[in-house]
Amino acid sequence: MALLKCPNENPEKVLKLFDEVYLKARIFYLLKTAIDLNLFGYLSSFKTAEELAEILDADLILMEYMLKILNDLGLIDSKVVGGRVYYKNAEITNIYLKKDSNYSIINPIYSYFENIKNWENLSDILKNKDNYQNTDVNSFFPKVVRRMADECKCWELQKVLSYIAKYGEFKNAKKLLDLGGGHGLYAIGFSMLNKNLKCYVFDLPNVVEETKKFIEKYNAKNVFTITGDFYKDDIGKGYDIIFTSYNPGGKNPKIAEKVYNSLNEGGLFINKQFFPDKEEGIEDYLNNMEWNFSKPEGLNKGRIRYTFEEDLNLNDYLEYLKNLGFKILEVTDMPELLGLDENSKSFRKSANPKDSLRFGCFGKAKMIVAKKI
Ligand SMILES: C[S@@+](CC[C@H](N)C(=O)[O-])C[C@H]1O[C@@H](n2cnc3c(N)ncnc32)[C@H](O)[C@@H]1O
Repeated sequence: MALLKCPNENPEKVLKLFDEVYLKARIFYLLKTAIDLNLFGYLSSFKTAEELAEILDADLILMEYMLKILNDLGLIDSKVVGGRVYYKNAEITNIYLKKDSNYSIINPIYSYFENIKNWENLSDILKNKDNYQNTDVNSFFPKVVRRMADECKCWELQKVLSYIAKYGEFKNAKKLLDLGGGHGLYAIGFSMLNKNLKCYVFDLPNVVEETKKFIEKYNAKNVFTITGDFYKDDIGKGYDIIFTSYNPGGKNPKIAEKVYNSLNEGGLFINKQFFPDKEEGIEDYLNNMEWNFSKPEGLNKGRIRYTFEEDLNLNDYLEYLKNLGFKILEVTDMPELLGLDENSKSFRKSANPKDSLRFGCFGKAKMIVAKKI
């Protein structure tokens, strides 16, 4: 009978696969719990597991293990005094994982916690073939831009602003458009760097309401909003600089032509976009599945993440810009511009540091600087 006969292959490979993914899933939920409980809020100063268990009304043994795990992950430091172990946030945790930090990325991290629910319901999503047009751009993007504001202001924004500030064209510019500018933080930052510059953030009506809140928050007197749909509406003219970052029109030839016509001669088009020219494995396949989980009305998504119908790939887009009359000054890899280095490996030792950040998908993002000649 089958009981006495081994199968042709042993089960090690399958068990290892499940062990590996189960390990990561448990860490994911442990991190979610730490953030939900505001654990890092209490760990600005050294505390023992007993103290934390008491504050959080939690089981002591579980708390001890949770702290050991967070310590091994490098998120909290420890010291032993008089035989007792004390824990406190690592510096990187104080910067990014405390709600009250200026650089908190807790809001963007919550998008993982939201998105994971889709994976828990994957069979429903797979079968729900025709019913995934569950939102529209005007209700979807305000939330996205609030998240992206928190994401960009803790590294990318400053790096991009200082990179662009080196251009003479920027120093002499009088009028700048941030197309699909969302939160408007880039425009606000540009206006801080060049006091003679008037900056205009063009975006959808509901999003512009968010932009106005940021303009007010930073008291940005030289930043204004324009409401519209860049596929249909006029984007204005007489700009010395048109900046655009991660927007659905950023690889679209018709939008590029609109940009060309709206720029002054000698003006710069600075376009920071994700160019996912090829799929390279499981991480891409997962991201592309997630991209296809929803299809907001008004957004003509392509099959691959961050692509849209009529998009050009990087080479064709650059050729198109040249044919319009642009001179390409630079095409820079975002990881390089952002100065991502070996440090970004610390939490995922096996990962390629350049691919290890999801936010903005830096690994495949480029910034194009083109001059209208
Ligand atoms: C992914 S967000 C990027 C926001 C910001 N530029 C950044 O990089 O952080 C895309 C932006 O494009 C805007 N957008 C999308 N479709 C648009 C359209 N048809 N007309 C105007 N803006 C649009 C969205 O509202 C949103 O602000």
